[in-house]
Amino acid sequence: MSSTKPTSLIVSITFFFFFCLLVQPSSAQTVVKGSYWFPESEFPVTDINSSHFTHLFCAFADLNSQNNQVTISSTNQPKFSTFTQTVQRRNPSVKTLMSIGGGIANKSAFASMASNPTSRKSFIDSSIRLARSNGFHGLDLDWEYPSSATEMNNFGTLLREWRSAVAAEASSTSRPRLLLAAAVFYSSDYYSVLYPVQAVASSLDWVNLMAYDFYGPGWSTVTGPPAALNSPSNAGPSGDAGVRAWIQAGLPATQLVLGFPYYGYAWRLSNANSPSYYAATTGSAISPDGSIGYGQIRKFIVDNGATTVYNSTVVGDYCYAGTTWIGYDDNQSIVTKVRYAKQKGLRGYFSWHVGADDNSGLSRSASRAWDATTVIRRKF
Ligand SMILES: *[C@@H]1O[C@H](CO)[C@@H](O)[C@H](O)[C@H]1NC(C)=O
Ligand SMILES: *[C@@H]1O[C@H](CO)[C@@H](O)[C@H](O)[C@H]1NC(C)=O
Ligand SMILES: *[C@@H]1O[C@H](CO)[C@@H](O)[C@H](O)[C@H]1NC(C)=O
Ligand SMILES: *[C@@H]1O[C@H](CO)[C@@H](O)[C@H](O)[C@H]1NC(C)=O
Repeated sequence: MSSTKPTSLIVSITFFFFFCLLVQPSSAQTVVKGSYWFPESEFPVTDINSSHFTHLFCAFADLNSQNNQVTISSTNQPKFSTFTQTVQRRNPSVKTLMSIGGGIANKSAFASMASNPTSRKSFIDSSIRLARSNGFHGLDLDWEYPSSATEMNNFGTLLREWRSAVAAEASSTSRPRLLLAAAVFYSSDYYSVLYPVQAVASSLDWVNLMAYDFYGPGWSTVTGPPAALNSPSNAGPSGDAGVRAWIQAGLPATQLVLGFPYYGYAWRLSNANSPSYYAATTGSAISPDGSIGYGQIRKFIVDNGATTVYNSTVVGDYCYAGTTWIGYDDNQSIVTKVRYAKQKGLRGYFSWHVGADDNSGLSRSASRAWDATTVIRRKF
């Protein structure tokens, strides 16, 4: 009857450690070092060095506007179904999320789906089924963007129902719950329409803040920093303004993931002698919308002997040669943003998109910068 028998002590200790193992993962916040991959980038999944990441987003699955189900196109199906096992070869602990929607997806289809319980259920059930049958660890909704008070409210309802559905599925199948994320506008205020921050906070593991596309030839006639972290006069959009807006609206910093672009925008300057921010232009250069991937920018700089400038106030880079001017994020901007994210207590960072990097250079720097940054906690 003695309770000090060695066997029972060993059993107790074993149970104690087992208990610790069970409890630890749920209490520890997982960091997000993420990037998106999409098949149209023509970057082979086998070339992703997943050692630089904790999470990879496979984009995009589509929403069928007829039956409100999530689908994977037949062209994408083989790449999506092997995505997880492929990226886990180099990093067995990397987690994958299937992203739904995207910038060119049909916004009305999302608005219509979210507006009633039956269509929301079709979306939710089909998304879970697809995530499981293709081996993903989670789902990421890229509805760009809910754009009225009603749509925002329906977006919130969708998120709450989605969260209870993945929780129910996890307990009925005894599998780890699917992660839930969403890519959102850089600010919680979308042109005076407010995101349902409480629903976001209670339903999603985190949100990916798309803190880029602030300036581009398609919508700005002057040059400008496409993804400024700071706006000099506090007037224009910036990553920091977005982060502050979300936190002020009530989203915990630990649910915020800061996005930055592995691409820039090229303009044709009106005058080659004024290659600065806010210079007059005659439109886009290099591609129809001016977008150009980071690897291509590096090549442009070398091929044309372009001048490069890092602006530490804005936290952005630009380069120019002749009348071509490109705004983008180089190594120093990325590293500065990663340090900012860690010091602000955010959950992490992500990039769009992994295939535009230059031999993984930016992703390697970003991951190292996160690990090397020490957080100074304010003591009042
Ligand atoms: C992938 O990244 C890791 C971490 O930086 C590095 O050790 C490894 O050599 C890289 N693998 C390849 C194939 O480049
Ligand atoms: C977009 O979605 C709406 C709403 O479901 C639908 O009526 C419309 O046909 C869709 N457009 C396209 C191009 O599929
Ligand atoms: C950075 O850009 C801002 C905005 O154009 C400008 O006011 C500032 O002088 C620039 N700083 C540097 C160091 O170039
Ligand atoms: C990127 O920037 C960091 C911080 O300034 C620096 O330590 C690192 O060497 C840079 N990497 C490259 C490839 O320039």
